[in-house]
Amino acid sequence: MPFLVGLCSVCFFRLKRNQNGKGEYRKNKWMHSWTSWVPSFSSTIITLDTIELPSNIGFVCGSLFLSLTTIPLPVGAILCRKRPINLLYSLLLLPIPLWFKDMSGKENGMPGDPEWLELKIPQLLFTDRVQELHAIIEKEWDCLQRSACQTAAGRALWKHVIHDQVADLLAGEKYLRNLHEKIKTDRLNNAREVSGVIIAVRTLWFDSKIQAALDSSSGGEAQVVLLGAGMDTRAYRLSCLKDSDVFEVDFPEVLRVKTTLLQAAIESTEHFRMKAKSLIRVAADVRETDWPEKLQLSGFLPEKKTVWVLEGILYYLSHSNAMQVLKIIADKCAVTQTVLLADFMNKPSTTLADSIFHFYSDWPDHMLPSLGFSHVRLSQIGDPDADFGLMNDQLNLFNKLRRLPRSMQTNPDDGTPCRRLYLVEASGSPNQEIP
Ligand SMILES: C[S@@+](CC[C@H](N)C(=O)[O-])C[C@H]1O[C@@H](n2cnc3c(N)ncnc32)[C@H](O)[C@@H]1O
Repeated sequence: MPFLVGLCSVCFFRLKRNQNGKGEYRKNKWMHSWTSWVPSFSSTIITLDTIELPSNIGFVCGSLFLSLTTIPLPVGAILCRKRPINLLYSLLLLPIPLWFKDMSGKENGMPGDPEWLELKIPQLLFTDRVQELHAIIEKEWDCLQRSACQTAAGRALWKHVIHDQVADLLAGEKYLRNLHEKIKTDRLNNAREVSGVIIAVRTLWFDSKIQAALDSSSGGEAQVVLLGAGMDTRAYRLSCLKDSDVFEVDFPEVLRVKTTLLQAAIESTEHFRMKAKSLIRVAADVRETDWPEKLQLSGFLPEKKTVWVLEGILYYLSHSNAMQVLKIIADKCAVTQTVLLADFMNKPSTTLADSIFHFYSDWPDHMLPSLGFSHVRLSQIGDPDADFGLMNDQLNLFNKLRRLPRSMQTNPDDGTPCRRLYLVEASGSPNQEIP
């Protein structure tokens, strides 16, 4: 639509300008009639701003504008010495390539604002109490537990899409700086995939699926269990949890530090309050078999509809531990309405050097029904329900990957392994028909 409006306005102004007093059209004088160019450029800008161009097209268009307009026009105006106004007008065109550059920034999901390149660390992170807690994380937590801070840093630096007020406090300075450096480098290199975008899309996918699962239950009254909750703050972020009891399961040391950090946030941050009906933290190791019992002792009701959130945890477990966790959850389908939301790595994703990942599944959509789930839906980053306006560049890695058959383990274009992250939604209930 804006394109049509733009096109019509160009034609109108140019024809009008080239009409003589008798209503006849003059010979082409458009090079001199600078007023006819103004609407044509503004309409082009409106059009290009509205349609979503991949960053490479933005770059090509920017270069084209630069070479066609901002250089020849002033030169022509000076050489001809006819219309000084052309010179003035040409100078007005100079910012156009900058605008294109800005548009490319929006393309890969980051704000175009150059100030963003500066990392702003909240004052609260420099207080003694908070510094002591982060020192404990560094000294006493293993890399598995510290992965919770890395994901929180992702949410903190993608706060323009994930509105997590306290993610930076939970992540800590070190993880914020590390990720910020990577993002800065990616942006300066005009990378198609900016670091942290996976965390952003993954978080938004889980948010949207939790909301959908609660909307579909009567009065939104379901329990939500976050296994390996880490520094997750959904109980404080999502209003859709207002009728839900939330259970966060993680190692005791993780939950202890998290609780104290959040207490500091509550005391010093205005309007930072819990949104869930209740929040219960359950210290447990999901590799053991007693975690369901610990959950129940904390108030979990086995017969109540439950949404299980396994975000960023399965692949840290061994194959047998991960399958055991999935089986425990799948068995709940025989008792009550059960929704499982989980992300799975495929095999090539776990084979990175120094990888601490173990469990993988190339076909979770085949494996979960065999455990007892009746409906399984699998998405990949960049699919319509896992895009969130952050995957517009059709040539970015995720879009390229999801167009390849899932059985393919190596990318035929460049020989790189097809590392995929599957976002999976599965459900089941006592009266289900197993397909
Ligand atoms: C990558 S973090 C993800 C945290 C959170 N789900 C998120 O997306 O921000 C993994 C979390 O799983 C927890 N975790 C890993 N293995 C666990 C286990 N065996 N029992 C309980 N928690 C575990 C870690 O402590 C860590 O907090």
